[in-house]
Amino acid sequence: MEMKGDIAVLRVNNPPVNALSYSVRSGLAENIAALQDDDRVKVAVVICEGRTFMAGADIKEFGKPLQEPGLPDVVDMIEASNKPVVAAIHGTALGGGLEVAISCHHRIALSSAKIGLPEVKLGILPGAGGTQRLPRLAGVENSLDAILSGRHVGMKEASAWGVVDKVVEDDLLDAALAYAGTLSADDIRRTGDIKLDKGKYDDAFFAGFRKSIARKTKGYFAPERCVQCVEASVNLDFKAGLMRERELFIECQSNPQARALQHMFFAERQISRIPGITKETPRLPIKKVGIIGAGTMGGGIAMNFANAGIETTVLELEQAALDRGLSVVRRNYENTMKKGRLTEAQVEERMGLLTGTLSYDDLSDCDLIIEAVFEKMEIKKIVFEKLDEVAKEGAILASNTSYLDIDDIASFTKRPEYVLGLHFFSPANVMRLLEIVRGAKTDVSVLATCVDLAKKIRKVGVVAGVCHGFIGNRMLSPYFREASLAVIEGASPEAVDKVLLDFGMPMGPMAVSDMAGLDIGYMNRQSMGRENYETAAFDWMDRIVDMGRKGLKTGAGVYAYDEGSRVPKPDPEITQLIAEEAEKAGISRRDVSDDEILERSMLALINEGAKILGEGMAYRASDIDIVYCNGYGYPPYRGGPMHYADYLGVDKVYEKLCALRDEKGPRWWEPAPLIEKLAKAGKSFADYDRQNAQ
Ligand code: 3HC
Ligand code: NAI
Repeated sequence: MEMKGDIAVLRVNNPPVNALSYSVRSGLAENIAALQDDDRVKVAVVICEGRTFMAGADIKEFGKPLQEPGLPDVVDMIEASNKPVVAAIHGTALGGGLEVAISCHHRIALSSAKIGLPEVKLGILPGAGGTQRLPRLAGVENSLDAILSGRHVGMKEASAWGVVDKVVEDDLLDAALAYAGTLSADDIRRTGDIKLDKGKYDDAFFAGFRKSIARKTKGYFAPERCVQCVEASVNLDFKAGLMRERELFIECQSNPQARALQHMFFAERQISRIPGITKETPRLPIKKVGIIGAGTMGGGIAMNFANAGIETTVLELEQAALDRGLSVVRRNYENTMKKGRLTEAQVEERMGLLTGTLSYDDLSDCDLIIEAVFEKMEIKKIVFEKLDEVAKEGAILASNTSYLDIDDIASFTKRPEYVLGLHFFSPANVMRLLEIVRGAKTDVSVLATCVDLAKKIRKVGVVAGVCHGFIGNRMLSPYFREASLAVIEGASPEAVDKVLLDFGMPMGPMAVSDMAGLDIGYMNRQSMGRENYETAAFDWMDRIVDMGRKGLKTGAGVYAYDEGSRVPKPDPEITQLIAEEAEKAGISRRDVSDDEILERSMLALINEGAKILGEGMAYRASDIDIVYCNGYGYPPYRGGPMHYADYLGVDKVYEKLCALRDEKGPRWWEPAPLIEKLAKAGKSFADYDRQNAQ
């Protein structure tokens, strides 16, 4: 606290984001208490050092015993102050930070500032009065929007909502002092004193709101509690509303989803920590990008770079394929424009950054070239040999291959240190995940450049090692095996899908197989040889392909589909086929319980994940969780497969794997050595990550 005339300036300085840790809470509480009886003080200003206003409670303190004072007490003290308090906001006032700001009596902010209540994304709700104060300032609809979306709200909206009193362009402290200088004891405006008119906000209103968010929030615990809090702000007096908020906050905080989502928050911030890469590691400039292939992936990949303002040249073999690829890109942009998320000028600007070519010469000045041609090593060889000829010295050469060996691909060039995998997910312009596949010879600055680039193109870039399918697709294979085995052993395809949908996956594995095309797995298996996969799991699927049913694209697969519909319908013909195939394979079908379906699917994922980790193909268990939640629709509220293993207990997972191995044989069920090690040491995957981080 520092006096500026008769204004007390309270400065918070807790880098990097001024989280409301114990020291900040106690500092605020002590100083607010002190200035109440300090005759020198007429008004107080709360302002933050560094890059942001308080960005929320300290998430690292969650789950630990609370050190008093708690944030709800601190904000109540601020609101109760007998001297006016002004919040001066820059950067992001989020969560508890915004709760502090709205317990102040006035708010002034830089025009670049943002406010928000993102707690819902962490599986909780604003627990320091935010759900009671924001509706009083911003109204019920705006508060529901802010609290349920967790989005960052800019100053234009925040002013219109009545949350911010004055917006300034710069010199925040001076402006705040000038503003505070105009205030007197009469200017104490306590948000809690504002009466909320019940108005139209009756049960029917909230029922309508619940319906509007049902799809988006399916499976999540916190959103419903957030709505209940806002409902309480309308139906209860301020004090009772705060008590209701506290009860519901504790309910959320003790739900496993809160731990899972908070795990995801930190996991995402870990991915760019790569052993051997520091701030000093040189990065290569990426000003121009080349893409080879304008098919399903190439077009989407190109869009990422155009969206980031990077000039991009797409190469195809023939003009027709090039035209087709670029027209798909344009159509995608125009669809976004129709939804109001891009202007016509932005569409043209992005298309203007994309050029098509049939000539490799046009790639000679590219800093990065990403190959996305057919998944055939012979073709990749031709492309990389050519790239080695034309690409400038120092250019990064990347492959989008799903399964092929990056080291083999690198060996087609005389510069393997510049080669790596950049594995995008389909649709590449939408899916957030990017696997960055580090080859044996990939140079550390090439890797560092791509890790930074992932952020620039708004992807979550996870570094993987070279193995079949890298992290994500490698784990997918045993998951599909178990789902398909469950079917041949007795469950119906729809029962398998339902179990995994109920778990929170966006689609069941059978519906996914139909969507991706059953012929893809079929061809893959033919090239693998029968000794290399579980034939019992897939022979029945291959019979379906033999019938010409390749999935959604042929109107039938594991399921039947009505003309033009994507809704899977159980098909008696397939039920019959499965029974026949089971008989042929000598499998006597039985009741496969939902629990067994879920357990086998999840254990298969976890066991493969642990092998990947143990082999050093992923740096952290939490990286695997990021891969699964961002690339494969694994429900974030379960924290990814490795966090789920921790939730089940690694010792229990190990016991179950041993039991499956003893029952079904070691071929697929031998526990990963890392699981055995952790289980015997009483450790979790989180412990493993913590230990490795040191
Ligand atoms: N608690 C603890 N650490 C936090 C934190 C928080 N609330 N917010 C950010 N951090 C840490 C990050 O883990 C990261 O640490 P690291 O450098 O060791 O990895 C560091 O601060 C910087 O964070 P980012 O890399 O995310 O920095 P950016 O500049 O990209 O983003 C941000 C800044 C927008 C503030 C972003 O960090 C963010 O969204 N933070 C979380 C905000 C939030 O969820 N607040 C609500 C908390 S819950 C709450 O307030 C409950 C209350 O209602 C009672
Ligand atoms: P695609 O068949 O849709 O497109 C490939 C394109 O490459 C075609 O337009 C073709 O004309 C062009 N092409 C072929 N040979 C070429 C050559 N020598 N020079 C220039 N262009 C050439 O294939 P898709 O699906 O885009 O896959 C491309 C790569 O991405 C593959 O390695 C695939 O494994 C990988 N991938 C695919 C995903 C998907 O879901 N489709 C997901 C992630 C990776």
